[in-house]
Parts: sequence; structure tokens; C-alpha cells
Amino acid sequence: MSLSRRQALGWTAGAAATLVAVRAVDQGVIRFSDSPALKAWDDWTGRRHSGPLALVSAGLLAASPHNTQPWRFAIGRLGVDIFEEPERDLGAMDPFGRERLAGLGGAIHNMAIASTALGRLATVRLLPDPENLGHVARLELDTPSRSAPPPHPLLPAIGRRHTHRGPWTGAPLTPEQTAALLDFPRPPEIAVQLFAAGSQAGQRFAALTLEATGAIAADTAMMAASHRWFRHSRAAQDRHKDGLTLATSGVAPMMAAAAAMLPPMGAAQEGRYWLEATRDSHLPTASVFGLITATDPWDRRLALHAGLAWQRLHLIATSLGLVAQPLNQLPEMIDRQRQLGTVPRFARAVDALPGVDAARRPTFAFRIGRAEMPAGPSLRRPVSEVIGAPARLGFEIERARAETAIRDAQLMRRLAEGNAASIP
Ligand SMILES: Cc1cc2nc3c(=O)[nH]c(=O)nc-3n(C[C@H](O)[C@H](O)[C@H](O)COP(=O)(O)O)c2cc1C
Repeated sequence: MSLSRRQALGWTAGAAATLVAVRAVDQGVIRFSDSPALKAWDDWTGRRHSGPLALVSAGLLAASPHNTQPWRFAIGRLGVDIFEEPERDLGAMDPFGRERLAGLGGAIHNMAIASTALGRLATVRLLPDPENLGHVARLELDTPSRSAPPPHPLLPAIGRRHTHRGPWTGAPLTPEQTAALLDFPRPPEIAVQLFAAGSQAGQRFAALTLEATGAIAADTAMMAASHRWFRHSRAAQDRHKDGLTLATSGVAPMMAAAAAMLPPMGAAQEGRYWLEATRDSHLPTASVFGLITATDPWDRRLALHAGLAWQRLHLIATSLGLVAQPLNQLPEMIDRQRQLGTVPRFARAVDALPGVDAARRPTFAFRIGRAEMPAGPSLRRPVSEVIGAPARLGFEIERARAETAIRDAQLMRRLAEGNAASIP
């Protein structure tokens, strides 16, 4: 059979396109809606879980540093206990576990508002067990009642909130949008500051963030810790259902498909790509930059609150049709210099930003803006993979302890009444 030149070229292009597509599927750039690593999003929006499991279904969709998902949930008769998984760590990128706690705070936030979808009042206690600091929260559900709050207006945003790492339009926010972003309750130790990207503070924030990105990219230990959470192949993504991927890195789908043809990036190459993306895309196309500050960023309770605040901000942005991305290079470098005991250059520089409150330190940095296209979902472990032992064990022990205390009290009372013999 003889081929015309045009046929041959067409076939070659077709074969190349197929090869790109195969590699793109292989690297998880092209994903199918039935992918097991994305099913958790449909589980929540399709309301596949009921009772306390529905809360877990919303909690695990929260943002977490490098998508580490550092949580475990124990379902009890009255609600859900939330535990930290310290081994889901970011090493030198988060040496004090401050960001890990912020991720947990995000999950707690989603669960609290998800309780309104069940028509039940939720009481959240942070760090309920002084003997187990890994037990970060207990969420107790009241019995369904007519006095329960109506569905929270941010409920629909839980399944639509995605970190957007692409280029945006740079168009400014309206004063109403800026006011709406800041309109939520937070404890007095936590504050939120927004800087218009073109303002003096905004430009200084951008310059410092770029400098911090360069410092991280040049720090082998930080880049190695970051690289550990990059999932290159579709097989790794489906197995782990966590971490970062090319598909959510912010490159255009065509570029991502082309990049999928290349061998996986190493940590140093990732650092170079990240530095370029920060300089050429993230910083110049934002509408506003922002900081969440805390009187003590390393206090466990306040670190949880910083995460609660970020989750709330991102859900509000989503409900307003805006997009958002954390840009935590500055707080990460502040922690790194604190860990190494070197001159706290970045801490001093951020403290000197115009408008930054002298009583509080930065703990979370971000950008918010407008984009032409929404971002896609990132990987998640589903409810079945994040509940149960060993967290359940912690919960049962605590309950057993409480029950024993009641029995002890009964025993003492009966002993005092002189009828100890009747005690079963
Ligand atoms: C404490 C914390 C720090 C984060 N820092 C960054 C960051 O510096 N840059 C970034 O692009 N995303 C950052 N993220 C976003 C996470 O990578 C993201 O939440 C995770 O990959 C899951 O994706 P999703 O938010 O789209 O669901 C951070 C999230 C949290 C909670």
C-alpha cells in the first residue's frame, strides 16, 4: 500500500497526538471522572454519606499543605473526633507543624458548616484532651431539632473550592467583594489583612515573596521535603490519593500534556519551575495579596484558627466567583530561619510591611483574584480511608475513662452510704 505525503504526515501527527494523550493519561494530566482519587468530591456533592460520616466527607475536601491531608477521624455516638497524623509531614518546609495544623483547621471548618446540612447544631471543642495534643478537635452533634440553624450559605462552595495556580486577569476587586471577604468571625488573636496588588504594600509583599521563593528553591532540604509529595504517575496518584500533581500545577492543559512526555522533574527542576511561575504568573496577575496574622503563630490553637480562617476566606472567594491561591513562601522561610537559628531576615521584612499589625506575626499568605477558567479538583483519600483505628482507639479510651469516672463516683457514693455489698 502506498501512502500520500499528506496521509503519512496526518498519520504521524495522529500517532504523536495519541502518544501525548497516553503519556498525559499516564501522568494523570488527563483524568476520567471515575478516577478513584477524585471520587471524594462527588461523594460530598452527591451527598453519598449521612450523619457524622457526611461531616467527614466535607472535612476531607479542605485545603492542606501540599495536599498532605494530615487527618484521621473517629466516628462516635455523639459526633466526630479529629486527630492529627504527624507523619504526614512536610519536613524542613514546615519544621514546627504549623501548616499541618492549619490544614486540620480547614477540615474542622468544613465539618462545622456541614453540620447545618444535617439540620443539627454542632459544638466544636479545639484540643479537647490535654493528655493527647494530637486530638485536635471534637465535634459534637445535637439531636435534630427545629431550632437547628438553616443550611449555611457557604455549603455549595465546599465542593467547588479549588486552589488556582494559573495566570489570572489581574482585574481589581470591588469594594463590596473586599468587604465580603473580611466579613467573618475570628478570635481577637487572629487578623486578616488585604493589600491591593498595585499598592505599595502589595508590591513589597510580591518582592519579598519572590525572594522567599528563591531562598526555598535554593534550599535542598526544603525542596526534597516538597518533592516527596509530588505524585508523578497516574498509578501513584490513584494509590496515594494525596499530594501535588502536574494537572493542578497551573500550567495550561496543552503545556501539561506536552510536559507529560518528558521524564518526571527532579526536586531542583521543580524549584526552578516554581520560581518562574511565581515571578511570571502568580505575582503579576493577582488582584489582592493577603496575610493571616496571629499573636503567636506557633500556638497549636491559633495555628488551627489560622486554617479555619483560610478555609473560610477561600469559600467566600469561591462563592463570590473569585479564585484564590495560598502563597506561603514567606511564613515558610520565617519558620526555616527560626529552625536554623539564622538571622530572621524574612520575619523582620514582613513586620515592616506597611499596614501590618505590630501585635501579630504572619502565619498564612495568599493571593485572591479573577480568572477566565476555574481550577480543577485535586486528589483526595475518600471517607473509608481516613476513618477508624488508630484514632478510634483514642476515642474509645477517652470514653472508657469517662465511664469509669462515673462508676467510681457511684461506688464512692454507695460506699459512703454503707451499702457497698450491693455494688455489681
Ligand atoms: C497551610 C497551607 C499552606 C499552603 N501553601 C501553599 C502554597 O504556598 N502554595 C500553593 O500553591 N498552595 C498552597 N496550599 C494549598 C494546598 O497545596 C492545597 O490546598 C492542596 O494541594 C489541595 O488542593 P485544593 O486546595 O485545590 O483542594 C496551602 C494550603 C495550606 C492549608
